[in-house]
Amino acid sequence: MKILAIESSCDETAAAVVESASNTKAKLLSNVISSQVEIHAQFGGVVPEVAARSHIEVIIPVIEQALKEAHSNWDDIDTIAVTRGPGLIGSLIIGVMTAKTLAISKNKPLIGVNHIWAHAFAAFLTDNQPSFPFLALTVSGGHTTLSLYEQSLSRKIIGETLDDAAGEAFDKVAKLLGLPYPGGPAISAAAENGNEDAYNFPTANLGKDSFDFSFSGLKTAVLRQVLEITGVNPGAKYTQKSYRLDEQTVNDLAASFQKAAVKALVKQTQKAYLQFQPKSVVVGGGVACNSYLRTKLTQSIPGAIFVPPVLCTDNAAMIGALALQMAEKDLFTKPQNLLADSSLYII
Ligand code: KG4
Ligand code: ZN
Repeated sequence: MKILAIESSCDETAAAVVESASNTKAKLLSNVISSQVEIHAQFGGVVPEVAARSHIEVIIPVIEQALKEAHSNWDDIDTIAVTRGPGLIGSLIIGVMTAKTLAISKNKPLIGVNHIWAHAFAAFLTDNQPSFPFLALTVSGGHTTLSLYEQSLSRKIIGETLDDAAGEAFDKVAKLLGLPYPGGPAISAAAENGNEDAYNFPTANLGKDSFDFSFSGLKTAVLRQVLEITGVNPGAKYTQKSYRLDEQTVNDLAASFQKAAVKALVKQTQKAYLQFQPKSVVVGGGVACNSYLRTKLTQSIPGAIFVPPVLCTDNAAMIGALALQMAEKDLFTKPQNLLADSSLYII
């Protein structure tokens, strides 16, 4: 089975060709990603209208490039897969409409894929295959979930963020510190030269039975610390231009924030691991690129499987990896029934 997969849920236009290998393993034949990061960086975050228009411009060339790099043509493709949600509705519609049109015109079966599920299934593209049932920590710009996945492709969400997603917290704190978008890599780089014990930031305590996350208190604590250091009156009207932080202070704040955010992620994941005793633990999504998280989580759960960084941030290979397993279970959709769903949750 060879699948052409398409992803356009946020600010990356991506296409990939994946093929089933032995057992659950998926072989990656091509993985083309056209990122809009530079376009959105000047606005300090993703502008949905701009994102949708950029997808229209590049989606066909990106698909053609993915086929070319996979040394494949349409006759070699058995199925088309596409992200149907969650994400920005204007962005999703471009991918879904493109996939539906191609499925009809090339006469191929179609699979609609949940983007959040797919982040964890990127692990099936590597040599280190997860075993079912597995626990997945999915940490991205829009979502933070702890889920249990069964071989039957049923998924139980056992914990999620009550407010900001982990990546969103990195992005917002980076903005506060005057670091560029996207904030995760910028915080991680600044933290390398910072003292993680310089400031004592809190991690949310949501009770011993909870596997949820909360990052808004941590974000507010960083803001309060910044205002205290710079002497800006919290009651006054201020913007990031009202204060200036020196480089070492930024590095120390970044390292201390990262320590608290990662502590929360590790604590809840380890608690879930001990309670549910899954066969594997998988960590995926953009924040899983973070090397401090990789180190700390591996110390707590030595066999944890991290999706490789290139497959952590948004890509179509992960959509194809999940679609291969969906195809085995006949989870195809008629093109006329496939709709983009910006708040797609469970399936
Ligand atoms: O999975 P992703 O590409 O997009 C969504 O589905 O949201 O994740 C993007 C998020 C951004 O918030 C970005 O700041 C964060 O992943 N990120 C990181 C790192 N690299 C990307 N966060 C922390 N450390 C990193 N090294
Ligand atoms: Zn994502």
